[in-house]
Amino acid sequence: MNPTEFATVALATPDQMRERIRKKSRLKGRQPEEASLAAVRGLIGARPREGHRRDLLIEYLHRLNDAHGALHDHHLVALAREMNIPMAEVFEVATFYHHFEVVRGGDAAPGLTVRVCDGLACELAGAQDLIARLPALLGVAGHADVRVVAAPCIGRCEQAPAALVHQQAVPLATPERLAAAVVQHPAPIDSLPDFIGYAAYRAAGGYALAAAVVNGEEDAETIVKTMEDAGLRGLGGAGFPAGRKWRIVREQPAPKLMAVNIDEGEPGTFKDRTYLERDPHRFLEGVLIAAQVVGTEAVYIYLRDEYHDCRRLLEAELAALQADPPCALPKIELRRGAGAYICGEESAMIESIEGKRGEPRMRPPYIAQVGLFGRPTLEHNFETLWWVREIVEKGPQWFGGFGRHGRRGLRSFSVSGRVKQPGVKLAPAGITVQELIDEYCGGMLDGHTLHAYLPGGASGGILPARMNDIPLDFDTLQPYGCFIGSAAVMVLSQHDRARDAALNVMRFFAHESCGQCTPCRVGTAKAAVLMRAPVWDNDTLEDLAQVMGDASICGLGQAAPNPIRSIQKYFVQEIQP
Ligand SMILES: Cc1cc2nc3c(=O)[nH]c(=O)nc-3n(C[C@H](O)[C@H](O)[C@H](O)COP(=O)(O)O)c2cc1C
Ligand code: SF4
Repeated sequence: MNPTEFATVALATPDQMRERIRKKSRLKGRQPEEASLAAVRGLIGARPREGHRRDLLIEYLHRLNDAHGALHDHHLVALAREMNIPMAEVFEVATFYHHFEVVRGGDAAPGLTVRVCDGLACELAGAQDLIARLPALLGVAGHADVRVVAAPCIGRCEQAPAALVHQQAVPLATPERLAAAVVQHPAPIDSLPDFIGYAAYRAAGGYALAAAVVNGEEDAETIVKTMEDAGLRGLGGAGFPAGRKWRIVREQPAPKLMAVNIDEGEPGTFKDRTYLERDPHRFLEGVLIAAQVVGTEAVYIYLRDEYHDCRRLLEAELAALQADPPCALPKIELRRGAGAYICGEESAMIESIEGKRGEPRMRPPYIAQVGLFGRPTLEHNFETLWWVREIVEKGPQWFGGFGRHGRRGLRSFSVSGRVKQPGVKLAPAGITVQELIDEYCGGMLDGHTLHAYLPGGASGGILPARMNDIPLDFDTLQPYGCFIGSAAVMVLSQHDRARDAALNVMRFFAHESCGQCTPCRVGTAKAAVLMRAPVWDNDTLEDLAQVMGDASICGLGQAAPNPIRSIQKYFVQEIQP
């Protein structure tokens, strides 16, 4: 750089610098074709003067994927040019997410995709048989171009076996139902369930509290105190006290942001979808209250891609709210996941909202201090925000007044497996699994008796039937090597083996490991192989468990040893000669 150039750079404004970098960074290597550029512009719009927003990369990939049935490499090259980012960046994001299919060199996009869930509840309900027989059955029915793939848990465990025909959910899937859905594809888009819409919600007094908070008629400090006193703990899995989190983020310097987690990827969990499908505004009111009290200027809602109907519902209801707002609203953006369980981990979700691969961050710094776009961020699970209105209206004693066996509060248990009435069960915190089955689920299925249960989804370990009297809550299960997480209770009977359930969840972890740390990437895959052996090599499995637990960056790798250790501890008879 000569002195004149140096002076130009030194005196440049940030805008001039950005423009300079943009000009200099003209993409090298493969150049886009005009037709591909035109196709990309047709979907993402003309480049604005300040350039396309980098964080919208995943949204743009969705538009391409939806329009062309796959991501063609020539479109990705054109997208990189349009966004003025390296091709490698576009490809590394595109290839990270399961729902993006990159096809090269003019190859055709795959046909219609049927994703059959092979999560534990669906496996218990015969998913493997469905996956094995379906291609032939669909071929016979004249649908040879249909692709059948196994999918990790799609959040419909109470409807097992469940599947998706492209974006259309097929509960209680049979070959006949799936063939019918294939024939009807694309399904009519007015298949939304009954729910409380904006007008009905407001007519029943909804948003009065949010408006009072936003207009300063309700004191923010009092609301934080109410949340603290209610003892509500985060319902996404980690159980951090919500009121304390609000206070921490509230004390951070502005500008601040909020990120809402509706990734709901933990196998066995479907509570967020169930509530969202029924009463979306109760949740949105909680969002508005939290945003005002904590002082976040924008809200990003991250919804898993498998919940297509919920996305349409939320888009429509957000539009209704924004068209006739009850009070001043923060900026609210709805973001679409792309098939990656790890994006439920809060820092991975933030990376994904920023348009990157969903790889968890090292902490510290914690996202409450340095989160989304580098700003202090309040991150919450859907259900945590769902409870805000009711807790503030009814008071902290109301929520804390529920509970059993010395525990306080309410829990939304997602119950699946061998019970008569699976579903979301709102029950007192501290209820035991036996009470939950008997009082809320109509008992075990006929001909089944309790053999084992997973108290907290895939990550929370496995317990034997003889331990059916432990209060289910945060902190009560740790002494047994388990945790409640998002309260996904999966019930096994004498017809099932706990070791098969452990293998199912380990396969899931291996599939969903983001690959960033070796202990998790290699350990989960190797454990899944070892766990197939009729007699377990316990020493090697223990080595793997130890290193995964000690040296993984995030909760996926840290919790992956739980199913191994549960089997070694409580179900020895299933893994020895
Ligand atoms: C591997 C992994 C997956 C997770 N998946 C979810 C999820 O799908 N939804 C969710 O709300 N939290 C999930 N969490 C927990 C989040 O990291 C975070 O603790 C939670 O969203 C915080 O919100 P809360 O305080 O309201 O619970 C996951 C954590 C890990 C380690
Ligand atoms: S523990 Fe696993 S999922 Fe988590 S960051 Fe490491 S490789 Fe990724």
